[in-house]
Amino acid sequence: MQIRIVDDYASLSQAAAAEIAAQLRAKPGTVLGLPTGNTPIGMYQQAAAMGLDFSQAATFNLDEYLGLTQSHPESYHSFMLKHLWSKINLPVEGRNIPNCEAPDAEAECARYEAALTAAGGMDLLFLGLGTNGHIAFNEPGTPWDRRTHVTDLAESTLVANAAPFGGPENVPKQALTMGIGTIMEARRIVVLASGKAKAPVLKAIFEGPATPDVPATILQNHPDVTFIVDRDAASLLQQA
Ligand code: GLP
Repeated sequence: MQIRIVDDYASLSQAAAAEIAAQLRAKPGTVLGLPTGNTPIGMYQQAAAMGLDFSQAATFNLDEYLGLTQSHPESYHSFMLKHLWSKINLPVEGRNIPNCEAPDAEAECARYEAALTAAGGMDLLFLGLGTNGHIAFNEPGTPWDRRTHVTDLAESTLVANAAPFGGPENVPKQALTMGIGTIMEARRIVVLASGKAKAPVLKAIFEGPATPDVPATILQNHPDVTFIVDRDAASLLQQA
């Protein structure tokens, strides 16, 4: 695992967008894996402002709430439309996200895995970190061999994601998520973390054992993963 510690969120966003730019230059038909959450918003803003050519690319989102319509303002589909898809030249058929309106959620998970395989797998996957150590919506305790699946959200996630829903009781209780098995097959992974709230998880990843209790610690076993983190997120690391 490699780590780049940058000064602040603006630098993190710039460095992450530069990774997208370099990847698209090297391989115009790149398959990107993409996260939602507050952390990647700056990266998306920067990438959109750079006027990059996504015309041959495809994006696959990590996860989506179950129980919302795609057009619900807090769906991850709406998030992607607002922060990236509407601002770049990625064709509609290149936009992939688990469909929260599918009548059979399990069948949708199988379809999503098959679509990712048919696209050739992810060349570059960006990940955020949950404060409880989750990656995508793989909550603590999730077995490491899972593929895309339906999951129950942890109480800690309902609380962490409550603000835009006006309280934890309004957050959807389930989600569709790539599994850790799916995530670990990405050829390259870049993890973004900003702020002191992520410092304990980063410490667990870099200084603790690999354990399903902290899903992100699986990244210790990936051959090509780079962390781009700001000083606050790195503040508990011995090497920082
Ligand atoms: C959500 C998403 C994760 C994301 C995490 C962190 O729960 N499912 O993919 O990494 O939040 O979000 P934030 O970047 O807002 O801290």
